Amino acid sequence: MQLIDGKATAAQIKAEIAQEVERRKAEGLKVPHLAAILVGHDGGSETYVANKVKACAECGFTSTLIRLESTPEQPLDPAVLMSEIDRLNRDADVDGFIVQLPLPRHIDEQAVIEAIDPAKDVDGFHPVNVGRQSVGLPCFHSATPAGIVELLRRHGIVTAGKRVVIVGRSNIVGKPLAAMLMQKGPQADATVTVCHSATPELASLTCQADILVAALGRPGFVTADMVADGAVVVDVGTTRVPDASRKSGFRLCGDVDFDTVAPKCSAITPVPGGVGPMTIVSLMLNTLQAAKNRD
Ligand code: GUN
Repeated sequence: MQLIDGKATAAQIKAEIAQEVERRKAEGLKVPHLAAILVGHDGGSETYVANKVKACAECGFTSTLIRLESTPEQPLDPAVLMSEIDRLNRDADVDGFIVQLPLPRHIDEQAVIEAIDPAKDVDGFHPVNVGRQSVGLPCFHSATPAGIVELLRRHGIVTAGKRVVIVGRSNIVGKPLAAMLMQKGPQADATVTVCHSATPELASLTCQADILVAALGRPGFVTADMVADGAVVVDVGTTRVPDASRKSGFRLCGDVDFDTVAPKCSAITPVPGGVGPMTIVSLMLNTLQAAKNRD
């Protein structure tokens, strides 16, 4: 069984990006600049955004973090967020930006996504980028699926001709990953099945997978009886589970019951240290691309 080390792969890619930024500087080209908007104080979002800012530094990018306060007592006026997005859309120094999700419930997430200029939408969430991706045109790809594809590629795991089963149909992971892997192309050409909460006899489908992707956000959901011998298993889950033995008070738990599933697999991604670091690296690659698009 091969443990797919996303952390090491991500470190390698960040070093490659940093070299490219140095080359750009030597050629008098602009240093990529990523901005992030964080609304409120969701614990997971705080960590993700801090990790994105740290990754920018490692890649030699400029980063800007914009914090907008929102509490149940004093909820953020959505117009303030919209005007911040408008400002970033027009800021010539910012190559790309993200609005960290989830947003407080009173804010219309889809309206926020659609307010972002597609040319700066390095999350790849705007319908223009989603649509371009689905027909195979150049675009910003959603970071987690792009990270998974790159992780498989760098570990010599071929998707062409393989049966991929994805459990989870989110707009951020399941749907875009299915669209990417079913495209024509060397790191695609898979036969993809997307399963979800209304899929009957789930295990009969997951057991047919050469590559099984668990992206439903339910800790330990995929058990050994749902996995074929020799399958590649990609675990996208990152649920915070209370753990009094940790300083943070929680641990990250994947969607796969790792201890029982791993012995059956030819390769598996751990949580943490699998897909998570690759998601951030994909955002860095999108930001680099955004800067290149503006050269
Ligand atoms: N929340 C969870 N994943 C993501 C992501 O990739 N981008 C943004 N903006 N928010 C998220």
